[in-house]
Amino acid sequence: MLPPDHVLRRATLSDLGALEALIALSARTLGARDYSHAQIEGALRGAFGVDTQLIRDGTYFVVEHGGQLVGCGGWSRRRTLFGGDARPDRDASELEPGRDAAKIRAFFVHPDFVRRGIGESILARCEQEAVAHGFTRFELMATLPGIRFYATHGYVAGEPVKWPIGAELTIDFLPMAKRTPDRN
Ligand SMILES: CC(C)(COP(=O)(O)OP(=O)(O)OC[C@H]1O[C@@H](n2cnc3c(N)ncnc32)[C@H](O)[C@@H]1OP(=O)(O)O)[C@@H](O)C(=O)NCCC(=O)NCCS
Repeated sequence: MLPPDHVLRRATLSDLGALEALIALSARTLGARDYSHAQIEGALRGAFGVDTQLIRDGTYFVVEHGGQLVGCGGWSRRRTLFGGDARPDRDASELEPGRDAAKIRAFFVHPDFVRRGIGESILARCEQEAVAHGFTRFELMATLPGIRFYATHGYVAGEPVKWPIGAELTIDFLPMAKRTPDRN
């Protein structure tokens, strides 16, 4: 559950600047234990970031506290598994709810606001909405610092991926997936 004085709402295009700042701060601070500086900066040039398609679809959320964005995340009915606007090979084609897994996308919480249930509240809202659209499975590409959060919420790991983010530079990600409980 969200802490008091925190509001979860749909993101709008006017949040873009604040979202980019939040994602960069979250990735640089919370990613520093698992990734090098070069890996984080490389990922911020494409793998991490806002996909404005989700904002336009109404499937990206923010949590606000005292007028400040302190968390974000979303889900998608489109094929792209991860990546912001700067990733050129995104695929906006639509998924088929009964057959394909909805995508869980770009969760980032402000470093001063972690472990307060913000990520969990956004994830619950995303899963709820995806189910309402007919999806019975979810999948995502987890960062190393995100794995335990998703595992706590029933996501199961696939095969680790080394994602290229520049000349001779890769970053470790982990695909994870989950079925809705009543479809196990
Ligand atoms: C992953 C992330 C989104 C989690 O957000 P959060 O708001 O801190 O998570 P919540 O408070 O909702 O956590 C709910 C539960 O998940 C688990 N969890 C969350 N973060 C965890 C961590 N770092 N280690 C172990 N368990 C964790 C815990 O069980 C937690 O409950 P508890 O605090 O009562 O023990 C946040 O840490 C983050 O932004 N990380 C950096 C960016 C990133 O890598 N995002 C993932 C992109 S795929």
